[in-house]
Amino acid sequence: MTKSDFFSGISASWDEQHSSPEEQEKLRRFAGHFRLRPGDRVLDAGCGSGRLIPLICEAVGPQGSLVELDFAPGMLEIGRKKARGLRVTFVAGDAHDLPFANGDFDKVIALALLPHLDDRGAAMKEFRRVLKPNGLLVIAHQLGREALDRLHNESSEPVRRDRLPEKPVLAGLLATAGFISCEIIDEPGQYVAWALA
Ligand SMILES: C[S@@+](CC[C@H](N)C(=O)[O-])C[C@H]1O[C@@H](n2cnc3c(N)ncnc32)[C@H](O)[C@@H]1O
Repeated sequence: MTKSDFFSGISASWDEQHSSPEEQEKLRRFAGHFRLRPGDRVLDAGCGSGRLIPLICEAVGPQGSLVELDFAPGMLEIGRKKARGLRVTFVAGDAHDLPFANGDFDKVIALALLPHLDDRGAAMKEFRRVLKPNGLLVIAHQLGREALDRLHNESSEPVRRDRLPEKPVLAGLLATAGFISCEIIDEPGQYVAWALA
């Protein structure tokens, strides 16, 4: 089974698992890490079922715009239902080969995507390419690295071996991709990286 099929297959349960008021509130607090501003053009890479749509749209306001990208059609289908009346574009695509022009975005958000990337170096280069100068990549996980690695270890194929890299490894990938600076929090309970293009 491909990862795209796997994620399409779990799309309904993923959405259900994350749609309780408690989960939404937790996400709302966590979303402060995204440093969104009114007017931002944002790429939500590996957007899943679109749980960030209301939060991002509210933060960027009517002058901003949001592109939801995922390679699992099942996830995008659920997301589309959440975007009625909002300024959101949906794109079926792979984070390793983004279908966007250079310098298209102010922010790229990758929430719970990094462990699933087969070629992290290639994806980081793509994120760097589509960001404007001084644009910001935010890589974020609401679980810490060790907890997330344990969770994946208990999951089925094809995500069983998906892992979050330790801080020096991610810092190296970001530098090689051309990001000019990065800040990484890798602690129990959260994993967040900010990288400036
Ligand atoms: C763990 S889910 C997180 C979804 C969403 N960001 C969230 O936090 O609710 C990972 C998502 O990344 C997508 N994904 C994984 N690898 C991808 C890739 N190479 N390109 C695009 N999407 C990818 C999956 O289809 C899935 O929807």
